[in-house]
Amino acid sequence: MNLKGRDIISAKDLTREEVEFLIKEAEKYRNILKSRKPIFKADDKVAITVFLEPSTRTRLSFQFAGTYLGIKVLDFGASEISSIQKGETFEDTMTMVDGYEPDVIILRQSVAGNAEKAAKICAAPVINAGDGINEHPTQALTDVYTLYRIFGHLDGLHIGIMGDLKYGRTVKSLSLMLDKFRDIKLYYISPPSLKVRDDILNGIKNAEYEFAERVEDVADKLDALYVTRVQKERFSDPSEYEKVKGSYKITRDMLLKLKKIPYILHPLPRVDELATDVDSMPQAKYFEQAKNGMFIRIALLKNVLGIEE
Ligand code: NCD
Repeated sequence: MNLKGRDIISAKDLTREEVEFLIKEAEKYRNILKSRKPIFKADDKVAITVFLEPSTRTRLSFQFAGTYLGIKVLDFGASEISSIQKGETFEDTMTMVDGYEPDVIILRQSVAGNAEKAAKICAAPVINAGDGINEHPTQALTDVYTLYRIFGHLDGLHIGIMGDLKYGRTVKSLSLMLDKFRDIKLYYISPPSLKVRDDILNGIKNAEYEFAERVEDVADKLDALYVTRVQKERFSDPSEYEKVKGSYKITRDMLLKLKKIPYILHPLPRVDELATDVDSMPQAKYFEQAKNGMFIRIALLKNVLGIEE
């Protein structure tokens, strides 16, 4: 598999075989890391995280991944302390960052399509860590890696994707990622005003899908339920947000009433759509999912940087 130097902008940028290879690599380095030594001596490689929108897991898991790999990791810092504050354009900012010759740029920002734009500007490979409502491919890698660890396979899974399907970029990337596998069935569960967008559905070539408004109506059919928060920051009209806020919630009581309790995943952060009383249930997998994100990003960085064993 040759991922060296590749931009990773969309879930579509990876083949099924490449995803399976990255999952194998993540499992391998997870075991090696138990010794707590840097996996490689690759301190000639420099990664920079450029996060112009809030992030905890994605930024930190990339930074830990780089540290455990044994590369150098720099951070752009909060956009508030950068020249973006003075009015510098996105294009100029990316030209500058690239000019310092990092070996990889990990980028999050709020405009859909700007990750692709950055990839055109920059000589360094760009990994999209979220571009507005568009995509978040490394979250989707984290999600399928988590599903693989639970089920031992990805073909044939029936997955409920619930919540803000209109604005959630993880929804799009996960849909495209799962679509690479065979006999996938997706259940899109949302209030009518947060229904999945056509540009997401148009990208699905193999998977079957159907829609529901209440999780109870499809729960029996699900292997896993992927819950997402209402993406407050994407609403231009705050009153629209207030209308849908709190319109769905997964709780322990609600799950205990189901005939079959699906595994529960969530990209996090959660707000109020997933009660903390679910955390102690054996089906709750979201904190493990966040941890898995670090191992799959180790695998991705190692291969995009072309670090030799
Ligand atoms: C997600 C994101 O940024 O899209 N968070 C993450 O990276 N784990 C989901 C979200 O913010 O709701």
